[in-house]
Amino acid sequence: MKTTTTGAICSVIVNLFIFSMFSQVQTLPKLRNTYSDYAPLIDSTTMKTHHQVNHKSYIDCLNKTLQGTKKMDENLNDILLNISYYKNKSIRYNAGGHYNHSLYWDILKPNSSSNISEALSNQITKDFISLDLLKKEMKRAVKSQIGSGWVWLIISPKGKLMVTSTQNEDNPIMDVVKERGVPVIGIDNWEHAYYLKHKQNKEGYFNSIWKLIDWGMVSEKFIKAIGSDVFESIKTDNWPELKVYKDIMSHTYHAAENGNLNALRSLSKEFMLYSIYLRNSKIPNEFNDEKTIKALIKLQKQSLEMHELCLNNESDKVLLKKIVDAHNTFHLIQGVCIHHDEHYHHFNAR
Ligand SMILES: [Fe+2]
Repeated sequence: MKTTTTGAICSVIVNLFIFSMFSQVQTLPKLRNTYSDYAPLIDSTTMKTHHQVNHKSYIDCLNKTLQGTKKMDENLNDILLNISYYKNKSIRYNAGGHYNHSLYWDILKPNSSSNISEALSNQITKDFISLDLLKKEMKRAVKSQIGSGWVWLIISPKGKLMVTSTQNEDNPIMDVVKERGVPVIGIDNWEHAYYLKHKQNKEGYFNSIWKLIDWGMVSEKFIKAIGSDVFESIKTDNWPELKVYKDIMSHTYHAAENGNLNALRSLSKEFMLYSIYLRNSKIPNEFNDEKTIKALIKLQKQSLEMHELCLNNESDKVLLKKIVDAHNTFHLIQGVCIHHDEHYHHFNAR
């Protein structure tokens, strides 16, 4: 009997472990402070209800909708980046609500000091002239928004800081939003965020939020956002030919990495053609430099050679080396790692 009970417990533990390994069950993030710490700027009841009821409801609904589907394994960012592919509107609403509120809690801190980084401060000066003018623009956006939604400070695909707004629980990383980018500040502009204390006084609410913004955290988010996968993905969306090439590279390269060269062998012609389309496409300004142009030429050459090797039925070993080389060239175009690390180390050194 004891053995049976122990076996059952072990089975539950193993199942829970497997479940947590292979599913992305979303959970309510902890606040950085207690609910009452945000008072008097935001009252304790509003904070508690907003966190434990509103935010939790988005998470519960999202988990319930995705449970048992293949999408349960999907990363939240990936869901949002490709939200147009989801027919179920509740996923857009609840995944957005979860992402948006998580950012909101992260950037609010009682007794916050103005510990803004030099990198963010310089970018604000470049794009808004001063922090005060950024504040005015965000305040105007909060006051003028009709209905429920969010006001954002985002990094656009061109690397520029911009103030934008979205309705309901949409956000700027979704592929259905007009002005896309990675948000570093998100201001909840729903009545549940302010009505209890501020009633219809949106300006009073905004002034309270502004005093709570943790500029150290925003600075950190700014640095991490540049070169992040989300940022690169949004940039890639502005260059359709790059996106198409990325899809075929991803499909064939990851299979090859796992010892399966058949995907590459069957798609080598498309691989070659897409590299030609890419080479001849209009390069968006944010990518258009000498390094990218050289890499595009190299990538086309490598893709042509790879197709020839496939036609000649070369060995898996030869093909693997070729696709690894092409993959490295492809990442020169995206410029992910080097750019990000440079900024990150600069920030940490401060
Ligand atoms: Fe909210």
